Amino acid sequence: MKFFIKTFGCQMNFNDSERIKGILHSLGYEQTNNYEEADLILINTCTIREKPDQKVYSYLGEYKKIKEKNPKALIGVCGCLAQRMGWELVKKAPVVDIMFSSYNIHQLPELIQQAQAGYKAIAILENPPEDEDKLWEYPTVRDNQYCAYVTVMKGCDKNCTYCVVPKTRGRQRSRSLESILSEVKYLIDDGVKEIHLLGQNVTAWGQDIGMHFSELLYRVAEVDGVERIRFTTGHPKDMDEKIAKAIGEIPQVCEHIHMPVQAGSNRILKLMDRGYTKEEYLEKIQMLREYKKGITFSTDVIVGFPTETEEDFEETIDLIKTVKFEQLFSFKFSPRPQTPAYSMEGQVEDEIKTARMERLLNVQKAILSEIAKGYEGTYQEVLIEGWENGKLIGRTRTNRWANVEGPKELLGKTVLVQVVKAHPYSLDCKLVSVLS
Ligand code: 5AD
Ligand code: SF4
Repeated sequence: MKFFIKTFGCQMNFNDSERIKGILHSLGYEQTNNYEEADLILINTCTIREKPDQKVYSYLGEYKKIKEKNPKALIGVCGCLAQRMGWELVKKAPVVDIMFSSYNIHQLPELIQQAQAGYKAIAILENPPEDEDKLWEYPTVRDNQYCAYVTVMKGCDKNCTYCVVPKTRGRQRSRSLESILSEVKYLIDDGVKEIHLLGQNVTAWGQDIGMHFSELLYRVAEVDGVERIRFTTGHPKDMDEKIAKAIGEIPQVCEHIHMPVQAGSNRILKLMDRGYTKEEYLEKIQMLREYKKGITFSTDVIVGFPTETEEDFEETIDLIKTVKFEQLFSFKFSPRPQTPAYSMEGQVEDEIKTARMERLLNVQKAILSEIAKGYEGTYQEVLIEGWENGKLIGRTRTNRWANVEGPKELLGKTVLVQVVKAHPYSLDCKLVSVLS
């Protein structure tokens, strides 16, 4: 029996897919990259913006052809769109046999059985079930041997007015320290060097179980063999001094933090209900820079939030120029059903959004070339995680892709390199020495 899985969305969703692969392996399924030979096709969906929503229906149209050849083949939809749409999705796409969300991935074995018996196996729950933690019993199946994601919390208790996540992933639930550490140990034994802690709002980990995210960082760092720690996504509001101090004190925490700002205008930030001002955001950046030498940042920006004026947008540009982010992910505001911003007055025309987005990208392009120049000649630590076209590839601690000349035996090693040439998104490097 073979399965094919297509994943959209964020790293959380990709990590969910890695867990789904683990479940399917335990059931005796083998993965295939060719959907035409699959007995089970799954689409793990995202609904953060309108575009990924629409893509799902076109993929379903294509995948349904497999039923002509193999009438027993099953098609499943999971993830955030499934949670948001429920039965409505099945009515729109009757080809769907199985549906579940991130709440009940662990129920997949029963759902497959139901579908094989000829029933529609649709399990969309209003709230996460009590046995949700059963999911951690299945090991993930990863593509990357040396860097692994570990989901440490699910859901989100913030109420950003544009965001559908609280509706699709539910309230914040922190995974227990014990469960996280046992997965980290398992991964290290499996050859992993870099642990990437994941959560919709990872810096809020622990708030619902009487703990603090900084404790988690210290405890993960104590696990023998953890060479690097990263985490996403942190909400600026929860990024306090305790976390900054931990980042500074723990050598394994990398010099790169993703901290979505969303907008540079205080009026827009208030309408988004982000819970901080531009000045407070900049103070956090400063605090992190003081605690961790050489730290770099990436961010998310939404362009064209309802009522955004040219002046508001200028403030976003200003902020981008002030911080000089190493990576900028920008999105045109997309009104999501069931969110407050959906029905706000003053929706911005698409043409204006497009023009502002273009301006933002041009400003960022100039910043990127300036940052890239700064890398030339410097020495960087790179964890080698891949081998492509005869070259080693890995990432610096600041999360830049680095191409390094060297033998394949260095896969999984941390090496010291010197940057010979810097491109906007990658660095050409020469090997200096092998560190570990
Ligand atoms: N429209 C556009 N972008 C959005 N994001 C979240 N919701 C929306 C929306 N409705 C962006 C935010 C978030 C990133 C994951 O997606 O910038 O940080
Ligand atoms: Fe998409 Fe958000 Fe769900 Fe991630 S949590 S898959 S970004 S809707």
